[in-house]
Amino acid sequence: MTEVQTESVAARSMGAHHDRVDGVEKVTGHAAYAVEHGGTDPLHAWLVQSTVARGRVLRVDAHQALAHPGVVAVLDHTNTPRLADTGDRELAVLQDDAVGFRGQIVACVLAESPESAREAAGLVSVAYDAEPHRVVFDDEAETYAPEQVNAGHETDASEGDVDAALRDAAVTVDATYRTPHEHNNPMEPHAVTARWDGRTLTLHDSTQGVHPVKQTLTPMLGLAEDQVRVLAPYVGGGFGSKGLPHSPEMAAALAAMAHPGRSVKLAVTRQQMFALTGYRTATVSHVRLGAEPDGRLTAIEHAAVSQTSRIKEFAEQTATAARMMYAAPSRRTTHRVAALDVAVPSWMRAPGEMPGMYAHEVAMDELAVACGVDPVDLRVRNEPETDPETGNPFNDRRLVECLERGAARFGWADRPTTAGATREGDWWVGTGVASATYPMLYMPGNGARVRSLDGGRYEVAIGAVDIGTGARTVLTQIAADALGCPTSGIELVVADTDLPFATVAGGSSGTSSWGTAIAAAAQQFREDHGDDPDPGVETTASAAGYPDMEGHSLHSFGAVFAEARVNAWTGEIRVPRLLGVYSVGRVINPTTARSQLLGGLVMGLSAALFEESYRDPRYGHVVTQDLATYHVASHADVLGIEAEWLDEADHLSTPMGSRGIGEIGIVGTAAAVANAAYHATGVRVRDLPVTADRFLG
Ligand code: MOS
Repeated sequence: MTEVQTESVAARSMGAHHDRVDGVEKVTGHAAYAVEHGGTDPLHAWLVQSTVARGRVLRVDAHQALAHPGVVAVLDHTNTPRLADTGDRELAVLQDDAVGFRGQIVACVLAESPESAREAAGLVSVAYDAEPHRVVFDDEAETYAPEQVNAGHETDASEGDVDAALRDAAVTVDATYRTPHEHNNPMEPHAVTARWDGRTLTLHDSTQGVHPVKQTLTPMLGLAEDQVRVLAPYVGGGFGSKGLPHSPEMAAALAAMAHPGRSVKLAVTRQQMFALTGYRTATVSHVRLGAEPDGRLTAIEHAAVSQTSRIKEFAEQTATAARMMYAAPSRRTTHRVAALDVAVPSWMRAPGEMPGMYAHEVAMDELAVACGVDPVDLRVRNEPETDPETGNPFNDRRLVECLERGAARFGWADRPTTAGATREGDWWVGTGVASATYPMLYMPGNGARVRSLDGGRYEVAIGAVDIGTGARTVLTQIAADALGCPTSGIELVVADTDLPFATVAGGSSGTSSWGTAIAAAAQQFREDHGDDPDPGVETTASAAGYPDMEGHSLHSFGAVFAEARVNAWTGEIRVPRLLGVYSVGRVINPTTARSQLLGGLVMGLSAALFEESYRDPRYGHVVTQDLATYHVASHADVLGIEAEWLDEADHLSTPMGSRGIGEIGIVGTAAAVANAAYHATGVRVRDLPVTADRFLG
């Protein structure tokens, strides 16, 4: 970052509590979500999904459905508008007869009411030529090495002779860790309202990125840039599942284009989300650690296997955190994927880091036990001077401070050194720790527009989407500081592709990437128009500088402490205390930041104890397709939970001094819980979720 940009953002609003700027709209019901648009005369779409996992659609018999009152059309692969590009097999909706997974869209009913559309969808009869499928991800599944893994990381990396180092190591850990198939489950199911006026397609979409949706769909639809507009003023969460467009958005777009002048509303049901809107692949991590007797690592190996779809590759970057986390002269990380006849996996909060750090941090706990070293000390002893992978200096790696501060606050020093040492009534009691990390991700290309209004106020516009994180609020604070006015002087306009380009609300990159663009536009505005501008002048600018990613390794860190109580008779696990201490750069709004970190910790607790989807091997569908059978941590499951952060500002990363906070809270949390359950009972659970049955018998 240039000096000037840094100086343009003097923290007056940043760092202070600020109520959510959209709080009133939300709690009064004035915030309109995706299917609350579309005027008074919309068509309602209902999806018909394949009942086979692999094969061909022979026939779609829509006679009965079309005879149903209110039904306007039934779209299938024979009568749906053609796409210009069908290369993306997830998004090439209703373009041919191929079925790649159970639950794929094979028809779409359009009717005058949602009830009519839903009833008629059940009357559509589809005949298939089914082919044998493989949907089970197990040790027999055939794997291959992808060309690269997600976020552009190398598939394999190695340094030194890992096998020799492991052979010579005084202490070794060699174990396999598994994380299950999980579904994101944001509160608002995926939804879209689409309208084609004969020239322009307008989507009100529940998405994490309006520009990314437009960029993906426009060329597939064969439309020009100025023919597609995507808006997402309010979004009820995403957790990554709305980070990329999925097939329902394309179905709605095509249905709208088949019915010019009518809005088409498509609300995905909770059940349909389990088939159509992405999920976290199950992962298998084979971790081998070699160490000196004092716990200093000599070798780290993390061999990760995950599952992808035969119709489109998705390669989870499970082992990448092992490349930069701890010092070890010999290291090897590999990724393999198994392609199955299943829906395409996608992003789910901290893809890569979440499953990878689970495996790595339980393995570290096993090493601590094997060496007889305290788990906090073990991590401190393995702190690298520079990034072990690149040799670059870290921005300001403060993992040790997070561990030490967390240990002090948690009362770690009182902990018995052996497992199974504490029994309180019917409960075994233990504590566990794990490290957390998440890269500072910065997405280039963002722009922002600043316009002066009457009374010394400014309109600040950027296409960024606030999916519930508080982005509107923190961007208002950033804009206020960059323009030298109070937050009440900022009118923030977001979430529309007619506004300057914004990247996805993903990878914990939003505040960094959009905030940098706003800071740059504000600085340019002040250069163009001064600090006391006439109303009505404006400047649009893009983020010019980049974080110093070449010269430095930019990451956030954290330490998670958990207390677990395991019932001696039932195996029930309760987590009365969960504490995360983080180094995440400057916290722009302590209220919304705490909410993100606590939310991540809750989701990590949920992954630790509950979340797991089951696919029926016979038919290939997900049987846990509601919130009763797919349990997400509820209020009663979440007991004492706290998050805090170090006071810092990281100007290598952004002019605001901030990094990302959306994902790091889930990283390491499940490992801390599993490690605490081990300390309570002496039973080592390596596969998530950590369920009661593991402690019985
Ligand atoms: Mo997040 S899983 O990068 O939307």
